[in-house]
Amino acid sequence: MAIRRIIRMGHPTLRQVARPVPRKAIGTAPLGRLIDDMVDTLHDYGGIGLAAPQVGESLRLAIVEITGGATRYGDVPAMPLTVFINPEVTIMNPETAGNWEGCLSVPGLRGFVERPQQIRVTALNESGARQDLELEGFLATVFQHEFDHLDGRLYIDRLKDPASLVFENEYLRYHAAGD
Ligand code: NI
Repeated sequence: MAIRRIIRMGHPTLRQVARPVPRKAIGTAPLGRLIDDMVDTLHDYGGIGLAAPQVGESLRLAIVEITGGATRYGDVPAMPLTVFINPEVTIMNPETAGNWEGCLSVPGLRGFVERPQQIRVTALNESGARQDLELEGFLATVFQHEFDHLDGRLYIDRLKDPASLVFENEYLRYHAAGD
């Protein structure tokens, strides 16, 4: 297990469409190591989600872990550590709502992004078992943010208003209270 360096906006890998994880790689030691490294990295950086391209591996793999309660994203629901391999997202309701998003690959900034708040996610877990999840609200936002990374997209691509891209300190000072 090891902490990996998270690549930042400007690194070309963040803009690539990641390739699917081959079925035969699931459950192998190298993929298990990558997942362990991603968990260590997520804990070390203090994030709530991490996609493999962010550690320089252009694979359709992401993890999410939210302790819940009061976080730097406000008061949010908990989600135990979950691994998503080759995920697919279906929008259940196109109605959107906005959240102030941040990204470990875009450190120090926040941006206000509107996304659908009701989605279904189908993916494989680390043992290759299929998982089906219905997610709402903040969790729906987090998953769409992570899955965007697998398609070479960053949340800043989705800002409706460029004026809503702000530094974290200014976010806390001027915007957080309005949530
Ligand atoms: Ni991100």
